[in-house]
Amino acid sequence: MEGAATAALEARGLVKRYGEREALKGVDFAAQPGELLAVIGPNGAGKTTLLSILAGIVRADEGEVRLPRGEVGWVPQQAALYRRLTVEENLLLFARLEGHDDPRASVEKMLELTALGERRGEIVARLSGGNQQRVNIAIGLLARPVVLLLDEPSAGLDPRQRARLWEFVSALAERGTTVIFSTHDIQEAERYGERLLVLADGESLFDGPPQGLREAVRREAPEAASRDFETAFVAFLHHRGH
Ligand SMILES: Nc1ncnc2c1ncn2[C@@H]1O[C@H](COP(=O)(O)OP(=O)(O)OP(=O)(O)O)[C@@H](O)[C@H]1O
Ligand SMILES: [Mg+2]
Repeated sequence: MEGAATAALEARGLVKRYGEREALKGVDFAAQPGELLAVIGPNGAGKTTLLSILAGIVRADEGEVRLPRGEVGWVPQQAALYRRLTVEENLLLFARLEGHDDPRASVEKMLELTALGERRGEIVARLSGGNQQRVNIAIGLLARPVVLLLDEPSAGLDPRQRARLWEFVSALAERGTTVIFSTHDIQEAERYGERLLVLADGESLFDGPPQGLREAVRREAPEAASRDFETAFVAFLHHRGH
C-alpha cells in the first residue's frame, strides 16, 4: 500500500489498437513524484500514443491508468500556439482557458519562469523554434500540473537551446513535478532521464536507470559493446527483434 501510495502515476497493461495495428501491446510502468522519466524508442514505437493516453487525450483499448490528484500538463510534439498573437497574448489566452483567478499574474510568473520576459511582445510566428518550444512548455505549465508530459521537447533545438530546456525541466522536477518526456536521442535520454522506458513497436523492452540499460545492451549486444552507445543500442533493439 505504501509503495502504491507514493507513485505519482501508474499504468498497467496498456493496449492501443489502430485497426489491425497495435500501437501499444501491454505496457506497464509507474513514475514517482519528482521523477524525470525518459520514454525512448524509434519512430512508430508508441511514444506519442503512450503520452497521449497519460494526458487523457487518447483512450486505451485495454489496461488502466492511475493518475495523481491534480492536473496533468501536456506539451505536444506540434505546438498548438496562435501564431499571429504575441507570446504574452498566447499565455493570457491559455491562463483564461485554464480558469486562473488572476490570469495576468499567472502570465507574469510564467514569463519569469521560462525567461521569456524579453520576448513577451513578439509575434509567435517570428520566434525561433526554441523560443516557440518554450512558449509551448509555458502553456503546458499553466495547467499547474503535478505531472508534466513532454513529447520530444528538444526536437529541432540547437545545443544551447537544448541545454536551457533541460536546465529548466530539471529544476521543475527538483521542485517535485513528475516529468515524463519522449525522445529518439539515446544520449539525451541517458543524460537527463533518471529512469528510461524503452519502447519498440509497442512493446516495453526495458524500464530502469540508464546504467541498467548500458548493462543490458552490453550483455545482449556484446559484439557492439566497443562501439558508441547509440550503435550498441541499435544492435540491442535488433537482437530483441526490432
Ligand atoms: N491516429 C492514428 N491512426 C492510425 N495509426 C496511428 C495513429 N496514431 C499512431 N498510429 C500508429 O501507431 C504506432 C505508434 O505511433 P506513435 O505516434 O505513438 O509512435 P512514436 O513512437 O511517437 O513515433 P515518432 O518517433 O515517429 O513520433 C505507429 O505505427 C503509428 O503509425
Ligand atoms: Mg511521436
